[in-house]
Amino acid sequence: MGQATGSRILGSGSALPARVLTNADLAAQIDTSDEWIVERTGIRQRYIAGEGETTASLAIEAAKAALADAGLEAKDIGLIVVATATPDNTFPATATKVQHALGCNGGVAFDVAAVCSGFLYALTTADSLLTTGTAKRALVIGAETFSRILDWEDRTTCVLFGDGAGAVVLEAADAANPASAGGPGVLASRLHADGANHDLLYVDGGPSTTQTVGHLRMKGREVFRHAVVNLSSVLKEVIEDAGVSADDIDWVVPHQANARILDATAKKLGIAPEKIIVTVDKHANTSAASVPLAFDVARRDGRIKSGDLVMFEAMGGGFTWGASLVRI
Ligand code: UT7
Repeated sequence: MGQATGSRILGSGSALPARVLTNADLAAQIDTSDEWIVERTGIRQRYIAGEGETTASLAIEAAKAALADAGLEAKDIGLIVVATATPDNTFPATATKVQHALGCNGGVAFDVAAVCSGFLYALTTADSLLTTGTAKRALVIGAETFSRILDWEDRTTCVLFGDGAGAVVLEAADAANPASAGGPGVLASRLHADGANHDLLYVDGGPSTTQTVGHLRMKGREVFRHAVVNLSSVLKEVIEDAGVSADDIDWVVPHQANARILDATAKKLGIAPEKIIVTVDKHANTSAASVPLAFDVARRDGRIKSGDLVMFEAMGGGFTWGASLVRI
């Protein structure tokens, strides 16, 4: 397989658990209120995985929807990357479970652990592997069941997260019509990590430390501060790398952690608030799933169209953060 010039998005899909948990439901269980949650975060409800629903089952459903949207079959896929911090098992990778369920065994399949930035890490990795010819088409999936690692008695974290999955199909781009010349494809991507901030957002367990799964712990106020600074700087980098201006961007599909972070970041960059896709009200923070979930919602409701310039961005535990600018 020859050298491609990047990759482009052919289709998308998403999946949500059946059960909705509203702020009022939570207020009946712990010391919180709909008013506090909406005012501080913009979240009104979240979806919670039930019996039989797992990260893999949600990923498989999202992947099937993305394949159907792209008009492809599983046998067309040579690479599956699943971004998740809540895999079905410590190993093997959830991606191998997805691969087997879809029936495209034999290609490349692995997971990426970059928590809420996972989809950006997975997209950038898949884009590179398609560029170097490892495969011709890829499924890039963000899938999570954060409800299974929450401390449901800790009101400072349990109200913020939800479960779900989103997927995109990527194809090695047409060398005759590259994104750099106005064709569809990934124009520029940047990834970052800073392990110094481990203790601001982490899970207090794991196979090699406690031999337990552990619970999510977060110092929300500090994370918020870092999120606005890191996201603003990585967005600037990608805009510069791509040689575009903030005005050229049609849509921003951000990680959905908090409506106030989305507003603050957009303001810093001078991006109009109506260009920002917001799903945090319905999905809450679904970690690695949030960006592809929001992208799929906005494609299916007709806002994001072919030819649009779309910025994906996320920041999460690690810390990790990143952004990608893609022409659809
Ligand atoms: O996805 C990875 C990235 N994660 C993020 O980006 C999350 C970033 N952080 C945030 O979104 C916000 O910091 C939070 C939504 C987590 C918190 O909002 P905040 O405005 O920073 O509130 P705070 O943590 O400063 O807490 C304010 C008050 C506290 O009470 P006192 O100490 O002022 O008396 C909390 O105890 O709100 C209290 N509080 C709550 N009250 C009702 C905290 N959680 C709740 C709750 N219900 N669920």
